[in-house]
Amino acid sequence: MIEVQNLRKSFGRQIVLDGISFSVPRGSTAVVIGGSGTGKSVLLRHINGLLKPEAGQVIVDGVDITQLYEPQLNAFRLRVGMVFQGSALFDSLTVAENVAFALREHTKYSDGKIRTIIREKLHLMGLSDIDDKMPAELSGGMKKRVAIARAIALEPEVMLYDEPTAGLDPRTADSINNLIIKLQETMHATAVAVTHDMASAFKIADRIYMLKDGNFIAEGTADDIRGNGDPDVRKFIGGQAPAEAAVPA
Ligand SMILES: Nc1ncnc2c1ncn2[C@@H]1O[C@H](COP(=O)(O)OP(=O)(O)OP(=O)(O)O)[C@@H](O)[C@H]1O
Ligand SMILES: [Mg+2]
Repeated sequence: MIEVQNLRKSFGRQIVLDGISFSVPRGSTAVVIGGSGTGKSVLLRHINGLLKPEAGQVIVDGVDITQLYEPQLNAFRLRVGMVFQGSALFDSLTVAENVAFALREHTKYSDGKIRTIIREKLHLMGLSDIDDKMPAELSGGMKKRVAIARAIALEPEVMLYDEPTAGLDPRTADSINNLIIKLQETMHATAVAVTHDMASAFKIADRIYMLKDGNFIAEGTADDIRGNGDPDVRKFIGGQAPAEAAVPA
C-alpha cells in the first residue's frame, strides 16, 4: 500500500506539487496523467525516495519513506522497480548485464542463479536470444521490455513506470500495456505509472489521477475520467486523437 499525503515540492519559486494526496491499495495500479512539465516524474521520484518533499509524507507499507536516510533508504529502494522515462538502459552493458545489474550490486547470487533470473525475466517480457545484444541494437519497444525486465529482477513489491509507452507506435505501446497488466497479475506489486498516453492510462489503471498546476483536478476509474465534465480534463483526453489519425493525409 502506498499513501501519498499532502506532498509538496517546489524548485526555487516554482511550486510543482502543491499538497497532493492519493493512496494505492496493495496490488493495484494508479496512473497519474498530465501534460508535459506538470510534475509527473517529480512525483515518482518522491515515491522511490530520490527526492525529499518540503512537506507531506510518502508512506509505503506503514513506513514514511521521506524520513528515511541511508542505509534504510537503499534497502527500501531494492523493493522498488523503476522503469525510467526513455528506458535509461546502460549503453555500455549487454542486455543480460542490464537485467543483472541490481542482482550483481545487491545480492550474492551465483552466476548460475543470476543467469537463470535473467532468462526468466527476459522470457516473461517475451524476449529471447538477445542476451548479448547492446541497447543500441534494439528497437524502442525492445528497450522498454529490457528496462522492465531489469526493474523486476529483484521481485519488487512496488513498481514505478515513467511514461512506459512514450515514443512507441500504437501497436508496440499496446504490447507494453499488456505486459504491464500481465506483470500486475503475476507479481501483484503495487504500481504507479505516470503518462500522458490516455490509451495506456485507460487500459492499465485501476484508478486515474489528473495532475495540473500542482494538484489533482480529477480522479476516478477510467469510466469516471471518460465521463468527467471538467474542461481541462476533456481537453486533455479529447486532444489525443489515435496516432493513426494524427498522420497527415
Ligand atoms: N531537479 C530539478 N530542479 C529544478 N526544477 C526541476 C527539477 N526537476 C524537475 N523540475 C521542474 O519541475 C517541473 C516538473 O517536471 P517533471 O519532470 O516532473 O515533469 P513531467 O510531468 O514528468 O513532464 P514530462 O511529461 O515532459 O516528462 C518542470 O517544470 C521541471 O522543469
Ligand atoms: Mg516526466
